[in-house]
Amino acid sequence: MKRIFSGVQPTGNLHLGNYLGAIRNWARLQDEFECLFCIVDLHAITQWQDPKELAANTREVTAGLLAAGIDPKRNIIFNQSQVSGHAELAWIFNCVARLGWLNRMTQFKEKAGKHRENASVGLFAYPNLMAADILLYQATHVPVGEDQKQHLELTRDIAQKFNNDFETDLFPLVEPLIFGAATRVMSLRDGTKKMSKSEASDNSRINMTDDADAIATKIRKAKTDPDALPDNPADLEGRPEAANLMGLYAALTDESIDAVCARFGGEMFSTFKQQLADKAVSELVPIQDEMRRLMGEPALIDDVLGDGAERARDLSRPILEKIHDVVGFLRP
Ligand code: TYM
Repeated sequence: MKRIFSGVQPTGNLHLGNYLGAIRNWARLQDEFECLFCIVDLHAITQWQDPKELAANTREVTAGLLAAGIDPKRNIIFNQSQVSGHAELAWIFNCVARLGWLNRMTQFKEKAGKHRENASVGLFAYPNLMAADILLYQATHVPVGEDQKQHLELTRDIAQKFNNDFETDLFPLVEPLIFGAATRVMSLRDGTKKMSKSEASDNSRINMTDDADAIATKIRKAKTDPDALPDNPADLEGRPEAANLMGLYAALTDESIDAVCARFGGEMFSTFKQQLADKAVSELVPIQDEMRRLMGEPALIDDVLGDGAERARDLSRPILEKIHDVVGFLRP
């Protein structure tokens, strides 16, 4: 049986990378699989979060998932801190994962930057909590963007070491599901950098809450190179901005990059950008309208999260009990 788990941090605006790299794929998987989607507020606090903003962002991200078409009845949508098993299993994994493994995590290096000594211990142990999120439910498949691949490899290492150490087959080796034409959406200001919530310039990303004008302006201002668009995808090599914008068009229209090159090859960026902006607006604006409506009903959102958390607790309870037995923890 396949069980899907994935998560998103409530640390500011959702952006087009989150949507195309992950959330839209989640909505597409829900017809086929049993899915859990988690707003990972415990992960968020590995870096300082204003408490009021954290609560507001948790609701906003939940509204984003619902507005993107994820059905809270068929799937389990919840915020991580409501299910204490995540933190509990993360502690066990803190004792399984090796310092050397975590030292290799590129995301920690990027986030901690030059101030490593000042980073929270939580930020360092972040991937252990992520492994706990997934394995608490014995999930088998994890739909994410490219940037989470290394963390999922670590999750496999942790599962394998736990299984070996305790001579069990309790934990599956999870498979990443990285698919679609936009597995790594890049910044609009620099095609070599990932589109991210933490990038200082707001023009570098398209937020899910940007209105049609803002989307069009950001795409118009997006960095390009002086050449015309290529008609052959191989010629996107060494042209990161062109590759990013054409990849976005392909993702938004569900076409292959070959088809996009065939259509726009030889054209100038200005014409193409106008069409890209139209596609982005027509995909995002209906989602935004629904998000706005849902944000006006916080009680409804809290009910979705509460109900999801209850179901997540029920699903995880017997698995956590088995984990306790395997580790040798006494329980009544
Ligand atoms: P987060 O909140 O940074 O991102 C949520 C999802 O969006 C994807 N994503 C992107 N995809 C394509 N291009 C981009 N520029 C881009 N930026 C973000 C991410 O790959 C992710 O799928 N550690 C995770 C959250 C997490 C999690 C988990 C995920 C916690 N526990 C368990 C899977 C399973 C994170 O910070 O995602």
